[in-house]
Amino acid sequence: MKVMVVGGGGREHAIIKKLKENKEIEKIYALPGNGGMADDAECVAIGAKDIPAIVEFAKSNDIGFAVVAPDDPLVLGAVDELSKLGIPCFGPEKKAAIIEGSKVFSKNLMKKYGIPTAAYEVFDDAEKALAYLADAPIPTVIKADGLALGKGVIIAMTRDEAFDAVKSIMQDKAFGESGNQIVIEEFLEGPEVSVLSFTDGKTVVPMISSMDHKRAKDNDEGLNTGGMGTIAPNPYYTPEVAERCTKEIFLPTVNAMNAEGRTFKGCLYFGLMITKNGPKVIEYNCRFGDPETQVVLPLLESDLFEIMKSVAAGTLSEEQVKFSEKSACCVVMASDGYPVKYQSGFEITMPKDKNIYVAGAKLADGKLLTAGGRVLGVTETADTLADAIAKAYETVKTVNFENAYYRNDIGKKALEV
Ligand code: AMP
Ligand code: GLY
Repeated sequence: MKVMVVGGGGREHAIIKKLKENKEIEKIYALPGNGGMADDAECVAIGAKDIPAIVEFAKSNDIGFAVVAPDDPLVLGAVDELSKLGIPCFGPEKKAAIIEGSKVFSKNLMKKYGIPTAAYEVFDDAEKALAYLADAPIPTVIKADGLALGKGVIIAMTRDEAFDAVKSIMQDKAFGESGNQIVIEEFLEGPEVSVLSFTDGKTVVPMISSMDHKRAKDNDEGLNTGGMGTIAPNPYYTPEVAERCTKEIFLPTVNAMNAEGRTFKGCLYFGLMITKNGPKVIEYNCRFGDPETQVVLPLLESDLFEIMKSVAAGTLSEEQVKFSEKSACCVVMASDGYPVKYQSGFEITMPKDKNIYVAGAKLADGKLLTAGGRVLGVTETADTLADAIAKAYETVKTVNFENAYYRNDIGKKALEV
């Protein structure tokens, strides 16, 4: 069978490498993919947001299954269009992808169905939001309603920062139409846990838990990034926490989406904070996390393609989903200066036989060159988290490109738990 994976980053590379373990798959296309995954998939120069071109490609290339990985095409309805052609897909339809596409939708869903989350107010008028903030508790959190490349969340530590955030999102339109509405919510504290889950709308199977490292610099300093590294499993996600999450968050969310006529099929991502009052939802994503996927999938012992097919067919309850007892660590190697300003075009040399997931690279004259902020993620697994971290940093030393930057403390906090 020919399989198409929409997307082009490290997450998609991890999905593709895992799919390759299935013998039924004869060919994988990545749209657009990147030069660093050319050994694993045929990259096709079609952007992940170009739905008509994606559909046309699927039609004319006899695609038997599609995996739509990034948020944008899911929110734009790529799965709906591919399904119309009769192509089975892994990923939610547009009406379910709204759980990530609109924070106002997801907050209202949680309120309606009693799913634990930060208290909040919604505003579509900047003056009213500013008036509310004049005596709201500080710190506070301001979120643009729509997709904003992961930058639409502002943690305001002072009242002035909160005012500035509202002005920037609603008046200066820093995130365009995504800022027509905002959510202002209670600031929560506690360790964060990412839990990705497979669901066909009836059964929900949480994957192994993980921990992202979003800040650019060691000790969680510097700017927010798309993620500088991950570890799995997350030590804060104890069996007791897991049980509460399943009962209070995972099942109620899947049931709520069904009750709204928005059945979610695909990977539902729960961004959780373990507060002193129990686990609460910080955010939902309608897709695999990046770089969480780069530690979760290497620990998956079952066949990813079989699971994806059963999610699409609605038969997930019959599927075995087994994770290894091991731990994993992914260290992201970025271009120095990311997430602000950085140079690209440097040659990358790296070992071929490792779990290295390439995100920002291109092929030119047979050479692999850096072509993005986050260039690649190096993942290692081991019996203990300490060993996985040590191995990942050993492998990082064997990867070379000019201007490489990475954090030196991925997993350090987890080891101290
Ligand atoms: P997001 O861009 O939605 O992933 O959010 C970015 C980060 O903002 C999260 O990972 C949290 O660290 C933080 N955050 C979001 N909402 C809250 C909240 N209500 N309280 C404290 N931190 C938050
Ligand atoms: N790692 C966070 C995300 O994928 O949104």
